[in-house]
Amino acid sequence: MPGDIIKDRAALYDLEYPPNFYGDLDYICRFAHKTCENDGRILDLGAGTGRVGIHLLKNGFKNVTMVDNDSSMIDVIKRKLINHLGVNKDNGIEIINDSMEMPIESKRFNLVIITGNTFTSLLNKAEQLRVFENIKNCLADKGLAIIHIYTPCVGRDSFDYYGFTYKFRIPNSSYIYHRYVRNEFSPDNQYVIFNFMYKIYDADMYIGEFSNSVTTRIVSHSEMKWLVETCHLKIIAINKGFSDLHTQKNDGSCVYVIGKT
Ligand SMILES: C[S@@+](CC[C@H](N)C(=O)[O-])C[C@H]1O[C@@H](n2cnc3c(N)ncnc32)[C@H](O)[C@@H]1O
Repeated sequence: MPGDIIKDRAALYDLEYPPNFYGDLDYICRFAHKTCENDGRILDLGAGTGRVGIHLLKNGFKNVTMVDNDSSMIDVIKRKLINHLGVNKDNGIEIINDSMEMPIESKRFNLVIITGNTFTSLLNKAEQLRVFENIKNCLADKGLAIIHIYTPCVGRDSFDYYGFTYKFRIPNSSYIYHRYVRNEFSPDNQYVIFNFMYKIYDADMYIGEFSNSVTTRIVSHSEMKWLVETCHLKIIAINKGFSDLHTQKNDGSCVYVIGKT
């Protein structure tokens, strides 16, 4: 029975967001190679299932620290390290099950990445500032941070409102899995609430469903600028982001490159 599958969103994450879902892996890998040597230290905040962190390890980087506050995501990273890289524990690889607001005392990083819209999980200025303080304190002298945000309204006055439905098959099983998304904006337009609805079928027979919702905070350019300046950091570039796989648009999708002043 798919009971376990239904409960475990982490197990579904890689189906929903296949490795190059955002079309961002090449960019991040190239950026990492420009920023540091293979033995440079990289910090992946809100690493999820290691979509990016593990890609960097596969591409020659040796020192990657992945932080996520969801232990089920962390479990997937640990499984992938063994299955994809054949490593259980390696000196350079660190996996931390904690909030990205928590300081990482002992290390300085050449590159800090916050990918896949993770930054919008921070729901207020205090949380956002703690993450920026954290970045500032753990960046090496010439280190850089990249933050990819794709909230479809960044830097805009009006919002696109889109929803989509798709289905896919869970590997090694006969289950077909439909996912519906309806995005809602809070009355003050400060938050986007993603309502996920999952329906699971086996050979077209309906088996069950579950739903969850994730609230994300819209971050405008001026708010990002304020956060960066308040923490005495500097925006070095704002690069164009990547297309949304479903809408083929890159509405509001951008990458902030941030460094020390
Ligand atoms: C949309 S996923 C992106 C994952 C990954 N960065 C990627 O690009 O595929 C967001 C991740 O951030 C994690 N997250 C959200 N808020 C967090 C926080 N305050 N501290 C650490 N992780 C957090 C979630 O558990 C989730 O795994």
